[in-house]
Amino acid sequence: MKTYLITGGAGFIGSNFVQYIVKMHGQDDVQIIILDALTYAGNLKNIESELNLPYVHFIKGDIGDADVVADIFAKFDIDYVVNFAAESHVDRSISNPRLFLETNILGTQALLDAARRAWGKDSNAGGYAEGKKFLQVSTDEVYGSLEKEYDEPQPLRLDDKLKKVVEKRKNLKTFGKHFFTEDTPLSPRSPYSASKAGADMLVAAYHETYGMPVNITRCSNNYGAYQFPEKLIPLMIKNVIEGKKLPVYGTGMNVRDWLYVTDHCKAIDEVLEKGRIGEVYNIGGFNEECNINIVKLIINTISEIMHNEPAYQSLLRCRLEDVSEDLISYVTDRPGHDKRYAINPTKIATELGWYPETSFETGIKSTIRWYLDNQKWVDDVTSGDYQKYYDDMYKNR
Ligand code: NAD
Ligand code: DAU
Repeated sequence: MKTYLITGGAGFIGSNFVQYIVKMHGQDDVQIIILDALTYAGNLKNIESELNLPYVHFIKGDIGDADVVADIFAKFDIDYVVNFAAESHVDRSISNPRLFLETNILGTQALLDAARRAWGKDSNAGGYAEGKKFLQVSTDEVYGSLEKEYDEPQPLRLDDKLKKVVEKRKNLKTFGKHFFTEDTPLSPRSPYSASKAGADMLVAAYHETYGMPVNITRCSNNYGAYQFPEKLIPLMIKNVIEGKKLPVYGTGMNVRDWLYVTDHCKAIDEVLEKGRIGEVYNIGGFNEECNINIVKLIINTISEIMHNEPAYQSLLRCRLEDVSEDLISYVTDRPGHDKRYAINPTKIATELGWYPETSFETGIKSTIRWYLDNQKWVDDVTSGDYQKYYDDMYKNR
């Protein structure tokens, strides 16, 4: 029997991970405890059917609340903590840094302490009970920003070690010569990434100081179903459907390495089961793309779907002819905007046999279709204070 404590399990990646574990391990003897504060980013609808399962339990609470967390460890014999809970949006961290330090750093520390107390209690000489692990879900943003050496992408050549593992991916490309590895020094450049780097350092410190069995995973930009429409891809899909302007920061030439969320969930599962204790694993998408190309692809894919399947046109809150690149609006750049992220996943590929199997072509099509088919979800999660937040953020751009 394995008992998971999944924090932030009602958010984007956390809810996809809950669904993944239910699908892959639901037949085995598992128990899933979800702890989530249900901030604007958390939504129980994301895990509606999983919550009906007898082995899934939901607790509304803050990872930083020592009493709530201690109570969970007292009630359940937790084997794996997977810490997704965080404030995750860079723009929000620029307007309100303190909340990011409270949740992402102090919250993680409270969780680490509770795990240390619970797991250390039966141990000899400071050791921990067998099979326990604390997995911190971190980000490539802790490494800072890479140079973008090429304006046009160049073929990405895999070394022999990677070639042996990567089977399904073809025509990979890159905008630069350098990539983040696990040895890249931490150099965060936004309050969000500084808070994630702080949390990573605490997790590493608990491993060194208290022998805590930990892993840290650092992944690139995720995309897929259930992502809150403040992040680039779902925001652009939402605005296209509504016929609203598409705010592209700066020149639109910044590059991100897009990772399909299900591939990410698989990687976390592999690290939980097979990752070497104390190690960091980078998780990338093998899919570098600049923002403006992503935005154009979204516009053109939605337009194509609307033309080929006219039933979808009823979703449009604008005229079909308005779904065009004229919606693009270049706005003032994000302060401290990181130029390029790109991950070298050699370690996880060669040690654990994982690589991102989903091509961007496949992943983005299924993501766009999910948003078209789930407009009610979009309306629900963006009701309330969302519109005011959005308007405030863009009024000066
Ligand atoms: P998200 O914002 O969609 O979800 C965060 C979840 O955490 C929400 O359900 C929210 O209610 C919950 N939460 C927030 N504060 C909490 C608290 N104090 N106590 C308990 N729950 C709380 O985030 P996401 O995009 O799913 O990201 C999940 C994790 O992955 C984060 O740690 C993030 O830093 C990391 N990450 C995300 C990406 C990405 O592209 N989305 C990439 C790399 C790393
Ligand atoms: O790299 C991993 C990180 O990816 C995660 O750690 C973060 O939690 C996640 O939010 C994401 O951070 P980014 O800042 O890269 O994601 P975002 O979707 O906010 O922006 C992606 C790119 O698009 C970035 O270069 C900024 C740009 N952008 C974003 C928005 C919201 C725009 O041009 N316009 C927009 O409206």
